[in-house]
Amino acid sequence: MTVITGRTALITGGASGIGLLMGEILLSKGLKRLIVWDMSEQNIASAAKRLGPRAEFHRIDVTDTAAVVAMAARNEEAGPPVDILINNAGIVVGRHFAEHSHADIDRTMQVNTTAIMHLTLTLLPGLVRRGSGHVVNIASAAGLVSNPGMSVYCASKWAVIGWSDSLRLEMEAKKNGVRVTTVLPYYIDTGMFDGVKSPVIPILQAEPTARKIVRAIERNRIFLRMPAIVNILPLVRGILPARMFDVIVGRFFGIYESMSEFKGRST
Ligand code: NAI
Repeated sequence: MTVITGRTALITGGASGIGLLMGEILLSKGLKRLIVWDMSEQNIASAAKRLGPRAEFHRIDVTDTAAVVAMAARNEEAGPPVDILINNAGIVVGRHFAEHSHADIDRTMQVNTTAIMHLTLTLLPGLVRRGSGHVVNIASAAGLVSNPGMSVYCASKWAVIGWSDSLRLEMEAKKNGVRVTTVLPYYIDTGMFDGVKSPVIPILQAEPTARKIVRAIERNRIFLRMPAIVNILPLVRGILPARMFDVIVGRFFGIYESMSEFKGRST
């Protein structure tokens, strides 16, 4: 059981969407110190209005590793140190692969994948030294299923899942008290995926999704896949021939067309 009362949490991308909601829920459960890292001045301004002085906001681009290392050190010095790290910041391009620029590819992989590893590497020694802590990595159901219109996003989230669960195994083998939870949600109505169509599986609502993630942290869940049907994806993908899987996921559930009217965020 991960205790929230009296603890410190750092949430990247915590000024919008499920990051903001998770921060709010953690505070309502008695979190002592909430540190929010986000690169959007606009999102920080509106989140600061909503959370008030209960949260500390830092404007930072998580892909700037030198800035991340320096900011993490400043945050830790100011104390109390981070107990719960939620790697949440993410972006999506939402185009067919051939329409990506080289910069789109690099940026997506950096924000969604490598930045998470660099920040975790920076904070991990402190968690290990203190013999407790929780690293929560927000991946996606897109890390379990191929999908036209989000190939690089899928790649970035597949990578996160593989890295995150390997980290869990390393922490467990060392019995050092550090927990790792990997979160794989389906589409959520935060605006990040505005325009997507999902004719069969309902799009998740942000608030209950954030609440479930916080509950998964408290319960030290290894994986949280949402909705429940996402739990059977790896099995179905493993046992069905690829063409049959395409028919079920693509045609029946309409997933392969889901990005065809993607708009995403206007900013
Ligand atoms: P959102 O777009 O509402 O919020 C993301 C926040 O991250 C924004 O405030 C943005 O300014 C910040 N951010 C982006 N790049 C950054 C950077 N380089 N440095 C610092 N901050 C940065 O996103 P949402 O929907 O709340 O998603 C949160 C996480 O959940 C993401 O990792 C996303 O991939 C994942 N996810 C989202 C789903 C959805 O349908 N919205 C579905 C599955 C997973």
